Amino acid sequence: MQKTAERIAELRRELNKHNHLYYVMNAPEISDRDFDFMMKELEALEKEYPEYDDPLSPTHRVGSDINMSFEQAEHVRPMLSLANTYNIDEVEKWYSSICSALGKEQTTIVGEMKYDGTSISLIYEGGRLIRAVTRGDGERGDIVTENVKTIKSIPLDIPAETGRPDSFEIRGEILLPWTEFERLNREREANDEPLFANPRNAASGTLKLQNSAEAASRGLDAYFYYVLSDSLPHSNHFDNLREAAKWGFKMAPILTRLQSIKAVDDFINYWDSERKHLPVATDGLVFKADSLREQLNLGFTAKSPRWAIAYKFPAERALTQLQFVSFEVGRMGVVTPVANLDPVLLSGTIVKRASLHNEDIIKKLDIHQHDMLYVEKGGEIIPKITGVDEKNRQVDARPIDFVTHCPACGTPLIKISGEAATICPNKYGCPPQIIGRIEHFAARKMMNIDGIGAETAKQLFDCGLVRSTADIYDLKPEQLLILDGFGPRSAQRVIEGAEESKHAPFERVLAALSIPNVGATVSKKVARAVKNMNNLMNMTHEELTAIPDIGPTIADGIIEYFADKNNIDNISRLQAAGLQMEIRQDTNTLSSEALAGQSIVISGTFTHHSRDEYKSIIESHGGKNVGSISKKTTAILAGENMGPSKLEKANSLGIPLLTETEFLKLIGEA
Ligand code: IVH
Repeated sequence: MQKTAERIAELRRELNKHNHLYYVMNAPEISDRDFDFMMKELEALEKEYPEYDDPLSPTHRVGSDINMSFEQAEHVRPMLSLANTYNIDEVEKWYSSICSALGKEQTTIVGEMKYDGTSISLIYEGGRLIRAVTRGDGERGDIVTENVKTIKSIPLDIPAETGRPDSFEIRGEILLPWTEFERLNREREANDEPLFANPRNAASGTLKLQNSAEAASRGLDAYFYYVLSDSLPHSNHFDNLREAAKWGFKMAPILTRLQSIKAVDDFINYWDSERKHLPVATDGLVFKADSLREQLNLGFTAKSPRWAIAYKFPAERALTQLQFVSFEVGRMGVVTPVANLDPVLLSGTIVKRASLHNEDIIKKLDIHQHDMLYVEKGGEIIPKITGVDEKNRQVDARPIDFVTHCPACGTPLIKISGEAATICPNKYGCPPQIIGRIEHFAARKMMNIDGIGAETAKQLFDCGLVRSTADIYDLKPEQLLILDGFGPRSAQRVIEGAEESKHAPFERVLAALSIPNVGATVSKKVARAVKNMNNLMNMTHEELTAIPDIGPTIADGIIEYFADKNNIDNISRLQAAGLQMEIRQDTNTLSSEALAGQSIVISGTFTHHSRDEYKSIIESHGGKNVGSISKKTTAILAGENMGPSKLEKANSLGIPLLTETEFLKLIGEA
């Protein structure tokens, strides 16, 4: 037994070390294969000897599928913001003012990056991460420990030999690296999900995901810039950060001591362009007084420390000529104007096109033919037209008119009063709308029909094989084989993908149909409430708005959708093909108020239902499933092998444990 415990500890130490070498130092010493072997051995041991399980073990960094709502915690010290400036002169003024406040000619300051992510506070006790809290309102934030634990560059269990204080807080920024951001947006585009405007939004969105396994898959990273403790190793900021790097935290190599205004200027000029080579987004530089004593003397204003200032980089802007405005029709019939530009280099990428969004924006900017346009890419990754250089307008240039007829099908366009969008009403005859719906229907998070992406959807439409989504289920391999680019394998992929999609649950079928305003989230709520397609088709506006979170706009969209015979016919063909048109039994039959007002933590493993099922069971009986135990937890649904730390915490707070059978009895399912 002793041997097992030792081996487990050794594997954890080794895995933590190699995680650090890989994710923080960028200097792996062993192959992925060897790493995986060690991980597998540890997983096997932890499974066999659950008494040695540890929530901070490297095996738990893959996230869990339990959803959670976030609890909040108060920050030990408030998380303040920084005074900002876009002006080098003001940085110089700040430097002079702190020198004079300190009664010195010059003083040492530290220059570092201003990371453009989302800030986080990590609390460590005895070297172990006990809590991760978002900035929130500065006074209190959301506890997001489970998601933060999935970030591999953050140490979870820091050995005492590193010299870390017994108790400390470290603050930093959670970021989604550019490469991961681009991958995520490509994936979202393919699934018809809204794109993240920048890595900052993507990072904060990811941190607030309810599902830590999903968060783990997104590839977040974290850099640190501020350590707080009663027993800091050094009396200056620079050495403390360098020390924290030894504890395992990621620090960017940019960290520099600066002794004069000249050094500050050089630092700004150098990093203004050099930052473009960094793997993560930055929006400026931060300067801090190095000596902690000087920081203490300078103190804080109500909002920010006097000992620090942020210099923000100006948004990059370019001037380029408009070639022409194209009008593009989306799956819901919305016509979007797009500025096609003379290619121009902006923040490292070539920009050729920028959305002008709608008619009002064209009017507001007063864009004329061949105008010189200002394009900006600030924190926003998607280029934006911010203005027109009117002086350079050609004398005979006419203002850009919005098209009156659909550029794809020629139907007169309509503009609903009070709304910005212009719509082509020819839903069932306008090719880009139909193709868009086919592509959306087949997308990964919808029916997940492998092999039908944007291009194939267009090809299948153009050759006349698929004119509505139900046609997908009539496709034969021999029809596909004769199409350009198709071979036996790709044809088979489409057929099998369609077959497989017949198992997709009802809520996904609903989301895949392109009902106005009914996306993945709304469809779940609707499916749970209406149970099957037939009920939904016959519901009145009043009945629809009685469903929680369904407002009049969504209800209008649903009614309008089912009023159209094309849709009814298509749905009956989908039903005949074997798609799921009702909610699965297990999520539908249970429903009571038995758990109203309860906040329940699920822990351990179960025999009758999966953890995910228990989560929806709790909710369908009016209870709330929460991720971690706190004073507010009312019960724990305790399966086999509940982790020792959870057990201890539950006991210390006097929270009752329910066995699986007791729980089922409580909801009347035993
Ligand atoms: S120091 C009390 N250093 O900027 C001083 N903040 O506007 C605390 N940030 O919420 C902040 N990089 O999220 C500091 N090197 C850096 C930073 C940084 C990014 C963020 C941080 C903070 C915001 C302040």
